[in-house]
Amino acid sequence: MSIVTRRARQRTAPIHAGAATMKRGHYDDNSSVQRSDIASSLAYQEQIVRDMKLHSANTPLVLADFGCGTGGSSNQLMRSITSAIQQEMPERSLMIFRNDLQENDFNSVASQLVPMASQGVCEFLAPGTFYEQVFPANSLHFGTCFAAVHWMQRVPQVCLPEHLTPEIVHDDRWEAFSAEWQRGWNSFLQARSTELAPGGQMLTSIIARTTADETVHGPFDVVQVAAESMVQDGHVKAADLERFLLPIHRPTLEETLAPFAGGEQDYHGLTVKICDETEPECPFWAALERDHNVADYATKYTGFIRGFSESSVRSGLFEAQLTRNPSSQLLDCLYERVRQLNEQQPERFRLTRTRILLLLQKSSVTAG
Ligand SMILES: C[S@@+](CC[C@H](N)C(=O)[O-])C[C@H]1O[C@@H](n2cnc3c(N)ncnc32)[C@H](O)[C@@H]1O
Repeated sequence: MSIVTRRARQRTAPIHAGAATMKRGHYDDNSSVQRSDIASSLAYQEQIVRDMKLHSANTPLVLADFGCGTGGSSNQLMRSITSAIQQEMPERSLMIFRNDLQENDFNSVASQLVPMASQGVCEFLAPGTFYEQVFPANSLHFGTCFAAVHWMQRVPQVCLPEHLTPEIVHDDRWEAFSAEWQRGWNSFLQARSTELAPGGQMLTSIIARTTADETVHGPFDVVQVAAESMVQDGHVKAADLERFLLPIHRPTLEETLAPFAGGEQDYHGLTVKICDETEPECPFWAALERDHNVADYATKYTGFIRGFSESSVRSGLFEAQLTRNPSSQLLDCLYERVRQLNEQQPERFRLTRTRILLLLQKSSVTAG
């Protein structure tokens, strides 16, 4: 008789509402990293559009960008795909949906939409979590999701006083985050599999890490060190920093492809058409090497870090203090320290990154 031992599932809690959302009025001006990933993925556009021609010409093509953020980078992506479709299929009308969490700044998204109904393109906002079904079954022809699935919906209740990210540890606590991320990833895939029309495609760009990389991501580490200095100066309670966790998991290629048995099998009717793991250049670092302007480097790199992390820091670290201090001075103080650290020790906190681009396609034959 074989004995199967199962590790007890770690208790989890939902992340704070809004913790994953981008800094209002700031993200779009500080997202050159994310935009460079969008630009490079457009190399696959022609192939994607070619497959879209196979859908029935009698109904509009339905497109959705999941985790669209505050609109700027999503526009770059959607405009490029729209014009590629219009070149190939000039008569085809399009419905484009922008999805993000309800707490996202949808006013910013809406204010950047270009009315094009007369050219057969209508745009809509679709709030809701992408870990659940957002659109009707079999309705979506093409979905995109860039730089978003590393944000978890729930986090394990582990004690991790050492750091704001589980990337610092290589034990059960990291395993708990990995397992929870995979649960979320499976939910994401199942929801997209339901929504995609037969033959529909989903392009996901993932902020990832290599299996061999056991270092802490530079942007996370610099926030930790800056926050520690605020504890030392009495601006933040040590216990608040010890409790604070960024609800982010950067998956490896193995974790990403696990539902597909490493890419060999389909998952709920989805198959892997393209899987591309790259280590793209960091635009801030490239500019530093070119111009040797470390002050400019530190300012721009810090703008990027603040753009994605401020909501989490606000809700996870400063919420109690901010009620007493609505001027957000604490946030300004923290990010000024981040800027100084980036200027003083650029190599230590530099951004090196791995990106996985995954194109999935739903099988053309639906289960009866
Ligand atoms: C780093 S931004 C990426 C924005 C844009 N796609 C880009 O490439 O610049 C991540 C976005 O994912 C959104 N997000 C995180 N978790 C989400 C979820 N469960 N459902 C929908 N959107 C989510 C966040 O609100 C945020 O706007």
